Amino acid sequence: DTSINIGLCGFGTVGQGVWKHLEQNRAELAARLGAPLRIAAIAVRDPQRKRAVKLPPKLLREDPLEIATAPDIPIVCELMGGTDLAHRVTLAALRAGKIVVSANKALICEHGAEIFATARKHGGHFFFEASVAGGIPIIKALREGLVANRFPQIYGILNGTCNYILTQMEERDAPYAEILSEAKAMGYAEADESLDVGGWDAAHKAAVLAWLAHGLWVPPSRMIVEGIERVTPADFKNAATLGYSIKLLAIITRDFASNEVSVKVHPALLPDHDVIASVNGVYNAISVTGDVVGTTLYIGKGAGQDATASAVISDIADAVALLRSGKCVHLNSEVAPLPAEQASAGKSGE
Ligand code: NDP
Ligand code: HSE
Repeated sequence: DTSINIGLCGFGTVGQGVWKHLEQNRAELAARLGAPLRIAAIAVRDPQRKRAVKLPPKLLREDPLEIATAPDIPIVCELMGGTDLAHRVTLAALRAGKIVVSANKALICEHGAEIFATARKHGGHFFFEASVAGGIPIIKALREGLVANRFPQIYGILNGTCNYILTQMEERDAPYAEILSEAKAMGYAEADESLDVGGWDAAHKAAVLAWLAHGLWVPPSRMIVEGIERVTPADFKNAATLGYSIKLLAIITRDFASNEVSVKVHPALLPDHDVIASVNGVYNAISVTGDVVGTTLYIGKGAGQDATASAVISDIADAVALLRSGKCVHLNSEVAPLPAEQASAGKSGE
């Protein structure tokens, strides 16, 4: 059996999306990745709870650390959220030389430096495409497509829940609490929704982008962070009269003369002719200005089961490629390495 084992820690909105789409596109993924994928274990808080997706009971675990340390699971997806158990699980898997795939921006913002140092020390690897802007491949864009650039400005909508709420407030006269419950029901919001509406989730994501762009960790305590709780229906009416929309923006700027980096999250007026002003609902949008490329713009679903699963699965694909190239220390004996000629072609191309 050449299947590559994956462990899911968490089977909520995102975990179920990963399960669903790995199953749905199983054959295509196996062909593209050169090996079939198998979800070998799933950790949840309550394995006894009845779930919409029927899972074989032998897959379920109560302790995600069991998955993090299982010798036959080289790829561990941390999809629980929070910064305590998720932190321990991530470090345990990385110390075992495994590849961790994470959607957890709060964790990266708080413990990113330690996580990356642990991965380096133990030969593990940490992928985090789903942590910022849901299905938009913004991490890859910054790290790979735009690697030639320095970044004077990155700004945009980084929270799908807030953009959904603001759009609905603008379009219909419904109470804020009712719209927030809709965003929760659709799986967009964090378990603690004050992270979304308070601007903190966007701040966590801005910290990840600032780190990728500028190589430094800016904690939210050193940012200006304001959420959407004080935006009122009257604000939308006034903004519309003037030809503006209201969006919660994250804005990361760097002044290369003084070498200062500034990170802010706050509701902002955007003129109607700005493309980002017309990005509505759960969609996110990010404008990245590079000194070499100029301005590039990325738009897509920023939250929700399917878009986030797309990003997690792209990390799983990178993890498989890493395993098969032999560049990761945790080599599951079942993982077939790349054929010799491909492996050497990869090396000489570096
Ligand atoms: P959910 O709350 O829907 O799911 C969390 C899952 O983790 C549940 O299956 C839960 O178990 C399990 N879990 C929680 N605590 C424990 C524990 N102590 N032991 C074992 N299992 C546990 O969260 P989401 O899927 O929405 O989010 C997961 C992560 O993805 C978070 O970091 C979030 O920020 C991030 N994210 C979410 C997006 C979204 O649109 N929802 C988009 C991008 C990132 P049980 O089922 O038994 O309750
Ligand atoms: N709660 C987050 C949002 C999930 O609404 O954007 C995606 O990171």
